Amino acid sequence: MPLVTTTEMFKKAYDGGYAVGAFNVNNMEIVQGITEAAGELKSPVVLQVSKGARAYANHKYLVHMVQAAVENYPDIPIALHLDHGDSFELCKSCIDGGFTSVMIDASSKPFEENVALTKQVVEYAHAHGAVVEAELGTLAGVEDEVVVEAGKESYTHPEEVEEFVSRTGCDSLAIAIGTSHGAYKFTPEQCTRNEEGILVPPPLRFDVLEECIKRLPGFPIVLHGSSSVPQDMVKIVNTYGGQMPDAIGIPEEELRHAAQLAVCKINIDSDIRLAMTAMIRKHMAEHPDHFDPRQYLKPARQAVKEMVAHKIVNVLGSDGKA
Ligand code: G3H
Ligand code: 13P
Ligand code: ZN
Repeated sequence: MPLVTTTEMFKKAYDGGYAVGAFNVNNMEIVQGITEAAGELKSPVVLQVSKGARAYANHKYLVHMVQAAVENYPDIPIALHLDHGDSFELCKSCIDGGFTSVMIDASSKPFEENVALTKQVVEYAHAHGAVVEAELGTLAGVEDEVVVEAGKESYTHPEEVEEFVSRTGCDSLAIAIGTSHGAYKFTPEQCTRNEEGILVPPPLRFDVLEECIKRLPGFPIVLHGSSSVPQDMVKIVNTYGGQMPDAIGIPEEELRHAAQLAVCKINIDSDIRLAMTAMIRKHMAEHPDHFDPRQYLKPARQAVKEMVAHKIVNVLGSDGKA
């Protein structure tokens, strides 16, 4: 099948109590690792491209690599999505260039400006067969050039969601319930420590999610900043010369619970970066004589595949749903 929008996949996910993984792609190994896992597990998948990914790899290369994956896995639904679009022009250029879905992230703007910009993107997207994700509330963390300090985020106000969705016509809504971007989602001060001294993060605001669901029955909700920052990967990075002290993510059980509710799309980028970096560091340390990039990118690609397979089965629940 050709690239699809997220409409059908989100409807099935909502009704089936699972979520579709949206994984960021920046190079060939990442595209291959993700789609090999999704293909083998017969899972729908969203491949998403940030502004930074486009600047790094170039729009054309990314679209053609995704097209190659679509040809390789004709039986799984794949959507190509713009992550954190910050202007009408960027969204338009991605839609014109073959994306089936875009995010317009005007969440840092005042409500009325967010409505106006989102509505403008929705009108263009819908006229061209694409769908739109919007956002209300701000996450902490780093995304593109914007850094929001932990503790300075603001949760979505559930009383705004109905008006926002009905006035903009957006197809899905990202909300802020305590997830955040990057590999340091909480400061140690925001956490407690368990008996082994491992940081335990504060729980997600499921009360905010439940309120949003009540006000938007049947409507797909999106969670950004949903990497779990697996401690075994952090340990490999730190063992082989890396320095990621106190890296911390969102517990998998919380994401699994959100996926059973109205959360239909869960965004994961940092865990892919972490898996690749861990394997490359390990490989380099164990094989100091290697200088062919294929020697270390092969295990790195395999690590991406294993990470994504783990998410599909244990966090998203989207295996067998293609
Ligand atoms: O939300 C941000 C994504 O992790 C993309 O990150 O802008 O560094 O590509 P990036
Ligand atoms: P993570 O940094 O938690 O992987 O979040 C990625 C994301 O939200 C991309 O939009
Ligand atoms: Zn995000």
